[in-house]
Amino acid sequence: MKRFTSPSPRHILETKGVEFMIDVAPLREGDLPSFFGLLADIYASDPARPQLLLGQVGLFLPFFHPVLYHVEYQLFLAREDKRPVGQVAAIVDKHYPDPKVGFFGLFEVTPNQEAAGKLLQAAGSWLAGRGKTVMLGPVAFNTNQKVGTLIQGFDHPPQPGLTYNPPYYQELLEGAGMAKEIDLLAYLWDPAQVNTAKIERVARRARARIPGLALRRLSGSSLVREKRALGEVYNRSLAAGWGFVPLTEKELDAFVQGLAARSQGIHLLAEVDQLPAGISLSMPTSLSRRAAATSFRLAILGVVPEYQSRGLAAVLFQETIQAYAKSGCRQVDISLVAENNSLMNRVIEQSATTTVARRYRVYRLALA
Ligand SMILES: CC(C)(COP(=O)(O)OP(=O)(O)OC[C@H]1O[C@@H](n2cnc3c(N)ncnc32)[C@H](O)[C@@H]1OP(=O)(O)O)[C@@H](O)C(=O)NCCC(=O)NCCS
Repeated sequence: MKRFTSPSPRHILETKGVEFMIDVAPLREGDLPSFFGLLADIYASDPARPQLLLGQVGLFLPFFHPVLYHVEYQLFLAREDKRPVGQVAAIVDKHYPDPKVGFFGLFEVTPNQEAAGKLLQAAGSWLAGRGKTVMLGPVAFNTNQKVGTLIQGFDHPPQPGLTYNPPYYQELLEGAGMAKEIDLLAYLWDPAQVNTAKIERVARRARARIPGLALRRLSGSSLVREKRALGEVYNRSLAAGWGFVPLTEKELDAFVQGLAARSQGIHLLAEVDQLPAGISLSMPTSLSRRAAATSFRLAILGVVPEYQSRGLAAVLFQETIQAYAKSGCRQVDISLVAENNSLMNRVIEQSATTTVARRYRVYRLALA
């Protein structure tokens, strides 16, 4: 599929016989303005540009982004005739369970296939030098963080914590020989279209069969107090999923503080005989702090293995939906769900009329 309709200035000059050299080199300290300038250039006409630039700065601060304590990375910058045209990070996450896998991330590039190819080559060589035989990505900086290249659903504004990129990245990555590893899905869900009968039937049965079951809504200080319970459910329920890396204590702190700092979140903890069994975490995506939130992102729904397939998701959904209704919520973004997560995809598809609104692709490259 051809995406670029107008010839670039480079293309025009090339047809006149002018040759350009793409040079990729590790980023030096003095290159940081080029690094951020490139992003400003690529998203020059995008209303989300300030938000994207700010997000990029935050990524490099361990206080906000404690994943930096266990990743090692090298940034590369591509220049064409001294002008920055692309960037990439080669990343090793010391906590990733498969020691053969390294990552690339922070991949940003002008519509330039040669620059894309050379950047990925540079990242791959850096990883191969550290014993990695497979490169996955993009991730920033690991699979718990921003993952995948947006390949479907470009009419939606960027969501906090999720990737955002121009449509041509898919073509450049595939043109550079990268193959699909997996797609991660974002569903849009209208609370007015919910399959209430099914949820209520399953939830009623679950409540009757699990007598010690209790649900609590958490916010602010109670979220912080229940940090351990949230971390336990998160790490145990998601452990079998694609790309899982357990959250460290510091990451859990940052995650919970982030939830607690935003008002209007709908966060539920399910306990059985006072032991943590399930969580449902939704944050508002509408920006105003004063007006009631009308849209939410359901970011985490997890049930510990011993209580899975016993109706707990339905119980959590039931209460979450009631809270959505009270706040006047009109739209829920359920993301990200791995396409091979059959249980979660089934729960979502049975819960309401939904559509996959956005798709994020993770790529793989075997390293020589
Ligand atoms: C996905 C997950 C949350 C489902 O929870 P669960 O408690 O095992 O699911 P349930 O027992 O409530 O499902 C029982 C039945 O109720 C249905 N159900 C559950 N919630 C429902 C809802 N909101 N609407 C309609 N039906 C629902 C299920 O589809 C299932 O139907 P079936 O018996 O016809 O298959 C759980 O398996 C899990 O924690 N998985 C690992 C973590 C994960 O991958 N989370 C998603 C990414 S954030």
